[in-house]
Amino acid sequence: MKTQIVRDITEDAIERAGQIIKEGGLVAFPTETVYGLGGDAFNPGSSKKIYAAKGRPSDNPLIVHIAYKKDLYEIAEDIPDLAFKLMDSFCPGPLTLILKKKPSLPKETTGGLGTVAVRMPSDPTANAFIKASGGFVAAPSANISGRPSPTDVRYVIEDLDGRVDMILDGGSSPIGLESTIVDLTEDRPVILRPGFITAEMLCSVAGPVSSDPGSTGEDTNAPPKAPGMKYRHYAPKGDLTVVYGTPEKVIEYININTARCSARGLKTGVIAGKMTADRYNADSVKNLGDRDDPAEISSSLYRVLREFDDEGTDVIYSESFEGPGLYCAVMNRLLKAAGRKTVNAGE
Ligand code: TXA
Ligand code: MG
Repeated sequence: MKTQIVRDITEDAIERAGQIIKEGGLVAFPTETVYGLGGDAFNPGSSKKIYAAKGRPSDNPLIVHIAYKKDLYEIAEDIPDLAFKLMDSFCPGPLTLILKKKPSLPKETTGGLGTVAVRMPSDPTANAFIKASGGFVAAPSANISGRPSPTDVRYVIEDLDGRVDMILDGGSSPIGLESTIVDLTEDRPVILRPGFITAEMLCSVAGPVSSDPGSTGEDTNAPPKAPGMKYRHYAPKGDLTVVYGTPEKVIEYININTARCSARGLKTGVIAGKMTADRYNADSVKNLGDRDDPAEISSSLYRVLREFDDEGTDVIYSESFEGPGLYCAVMNRLLKAAGRKTVNAGE
């Protein structure tokens, strides 16, 4: 398949992208979180094509992207008032709600589940594209299954050129981590995937909110409620370990270990905050940004993981970035990328 890569996002380009979706094709598009791989949510054939293009298991449901809040009624039923309260506070934006699905929405889109994931992105290109597509775009992140979600068009091209009809170039994604997913089908809202909309922000609107221990990785025996969270996502090709401890101990531990790995002929990498990045001797040291600015850290994580892949790094050590709010989302993705491999370098 020849993929059209559209750099100049004109009204005409958006119309053409919408037409492709209406005809059952696939278009990768930018959002404020990560790029999406879109198809018509009401066309079962489109959902099947999405799974094939990503190499993704078809039991993993897709998020339906909408452009108007009222369109919730077309895909969901028994919608609690809280859904509109949360949407009024955080949407358009990086929040996905799980609601009871309407029977008319194909089961192929929801991975056979009785529920549907809904999100209304704030990115203006995404918004215009969803409208031009008929209003309901099913889209997972626009990566090959198992790779980090793409936060720049060049990674979308790397993964999907030749597999989709069109790629809309929106530069790099400002947030850089996937949306917060909140399940509203239980008595109390449950966070299935932490993200830019933090637990604290949700609580301020919704009252008590809990987290799914299976999805966040706190309980590795419980099956996650978001089916996609059970897969080893965001995995770099190199062997990644997250190192806890006081800054000096972490630096010492990582330097000893990267030196050992280098002596064995392995290519080494380190993920660090800005203040400590120049303290490491690895072949490749990646600075995620100021650790006091979690938005900067989160927006560079996936780019850095992909850069290590491109450089062919064999062994990667990362500082940990623990903290409240958005730090939880950063650590959730970092620990998943590491397959939960951690060490404590000491206090
Ligand atoms: O920011 C985002 O959410 C991006 C952009 C493109 O919007 N999309 C995204 O999609 O991250 P994806 O498919 O990579 O991740 C969606 C997650 C998966 O873990 C999936 O299992 C879960 O949402 N999910 C989808 N529908 C669900 C449902 N009905 N119940 C529980 N989890 C669901
Ligand atoms: Mg994904």
